[in-house]
Amino acid sequence: MEFNTIIEPFRIHSVEPIKMTNEVQRREIISKAGYNIFNLKSEDVMIDLLTDSGTGAMSKNQWAAIQHGDESYAGSPSWEIFRSAVTALFPFKHVIPTHQGRAAEKILFSVVGGNGKTFPSNTHFDTTRANIEFTGATALDLVIEEGTQPRTIHPFKGNIDIDRLERLLRELGPDQVPLVMLTITNNSGGGQPVSMQNIRETREVCDTYNIPLYLDACRFAENAWFIHEREHGYDTQSVPDIVREMAGLADGMTMSAKKDPMGNNGGWLALNDDQIAQEARTLLILTEGFPTYGGLAGRDLEALAVGISEAVSHDYLKYRIASTQYLGDALDKAGIPVSCRSGGTQFTLMRGPGYAT
Ligand SMILES: Cc1ncc(COP(=O)(O)O)c(C=O)c1O
Repeated sequence: MEFNTIIEPFRIHSVEPIKMTNEVQRREIISKAGYNIFNLKSEDVMIDLLTDSGTGAMSKNQWAAIQHGDESYAGSPSWEIFRSAVTALFPFKHVIPTHQGRAAEKILFSVVGGNGKTFPSNTHFDTTRANIEFTGATALDLVIEEGTQPRTIHPFKGNIDIDRLERLLRELGPDQVPLVMLTITNNSGGGQPVSMQNIRETREVCDTYNIPLYLDACRFAENAWFIHEREHGYDTQSVPDIVREMAGLADGMTMSAKKDPMGNNGGWLALNDDQIAQEARTLLILTEGFPTYGGLAGRDLEALAVGISEAVSHDYLKYRIASTQYLGDALDKAGIPVSCRSGGTQFTLMRGPGYAT
């Protein structure tokens, strides 16, 4: 039977009108933009597939949380609500809020980076790579071979190559490798997921050489969903439990809350190391703000707290991945190249237009 998309698990509660254009107008608009989509005015774009980063609609409970936000400079209750929501899934000792993901990266790598250091990953996202290289350090991508072959079908094409990682850590050791990073899902590699087994094996190699493991966890909920769907033994586990297991294998994380945490802005750095956390908070104050709000308003902290818990809903993730697959298959049938047929993220543009608002 032909695959059909599934019913979205929400009602649309407000709508944003879009400007309708015809092909002739669109050709003119894109020509004027020099064929660079970043030069387009968003009002001229009928279907905006540029990114889902921070562009999605918030749920009614997120909007309600905005009203609940407390804008006290220090010690706002909104901070506690945010911190509890983060640690419910990612039980790290220190949570440091930032205005978006790259600010968390900038702070982390300013503390641990520098000339002569090397940071291996499955694939660094471009801002992560830039923040590493800006300190004089080297960013190294070690994704498995299948992850570099767009047409190869493999359930976890975001996995890091454990043998190459092991050889590297043996050669360089903890003085030159301050941490290993896993991007889940592997966004720059087509949004491909990383298996729990691969995270566990990465942890074991890191332990052998006494090197911490960090997650770039922007798509944590999708990654957990793929583990739930594809990895032996996880079909009976809840997504929140899978997220906690992933987090439990790591020493810290960076997060862009503009992705799975359903925010229009936000991010955080979370970690267990007291010394790094102290230095990170000092840098935070220079560019982001006081440690109980970072770069965020109290209302943003509260909206994110709700988004984090809504992002791990099974019904929602099932819908999100199914509609992504539907789009991918339709594009494939139409002969349009698709780079991530078995992964999720690049097509997770579907959450935007109507998530429960
Ligand atoms: C995997 C990954 N890491 C980091 C970032 C940077 O986050 P932000 O855009 O919030 O600075 C992104 C953004 O797309 C990302 O996808």
